Amino acid sequence: MCYINDTVRYMDKIHLEVDKDNRKLVHGIEPANALYENFSRDITYPTEEQMACEAQLSAIGVWEPLSFIIKDDIWKENEKAVKDLWRPFQPKPGISNDRESILLYGAEGSEPTDPCGLAQMARNTGVKPSEISMTHPTSAKDMFTCLIEVFDYFDFGRSFAVRLNRGGHYPPHRDHLLLTRPTIRLIAFLGDSTDKLKWEVEDRRMHVIPNHLYYVDTRKTHSLWSSNHRSTMVVFNVIKNWENVMKILSKLKYFG
Ligand SMILES: [Fe+2]
Repeated sequence: MCYINDTVRYMDKIHLEVDKDNRKLVHGIEPANALYENFSRDITYPTEEQMACEAQLSAIGVWEPLSFIIKDDIWKENEKAVKDLWRPFQPKPGISNDRESILLYGAEGSEPTDPCGLAQMARNTGVKPSEISMTHPTSAKDMFTCLIEVFDYFDFGRSFAVRLNRGGHYPPHRDHLLLTRPTIRLIAFLGDSTDKLKWEVEDRRMHVIPNHLYYVDTRKTHSLWSSNHRSTMVVFNVIKNWENVMKILSKLKYFG
């Protein structure tokens, strides 16, 4: 007679193996830690343009708002239109973490409901695909009309909407540490999640202006968590080249 243990195991199964609509989760499997000293010089040593891009980006800071106008009333309409497209973002075996995503730019033929996380994409091959191998918009991209000005301005690799529900989090991590990183990270904060969403970069709490797009230096250690539902962002990977770096400078919200 061990009804309690059976119930706990059943609840574990419900929460960790299937999503809220009983679809089987697509777990992310992290490849082994990178041993940078074993990488070939071709992969780690930056070109002149890569160095120029990184040096110029470092002048911006780690967390800077851009001047794009994201209209809250249009986002609220978009949110209703995409409500059936959310899927669990990169669930990991044995970990409860309420994050959901919609793919906006992926590999050719991608669907909005396809897995968005690199570790999910690496589950079969053991290798994370390059951000710049995913430049094809899905049908969801044009449903985010509040971001049309942003979509029209840059060239994108893998990009996706993500929302954190209560308890959803990203533990401390870095994205694309090498100077040869192929993409730059921009993050749009949709709606007002001021009180419920906490972002830290290098252990410092970041201030978020609602409905703004930010340049974020995600090479630095960062983490975030949400104390309530529907803290919604769009994560953009912009192709790193001099033209796009100059475009970011042109769109800074604050000039000297
Ligand atoms: Fe990150």
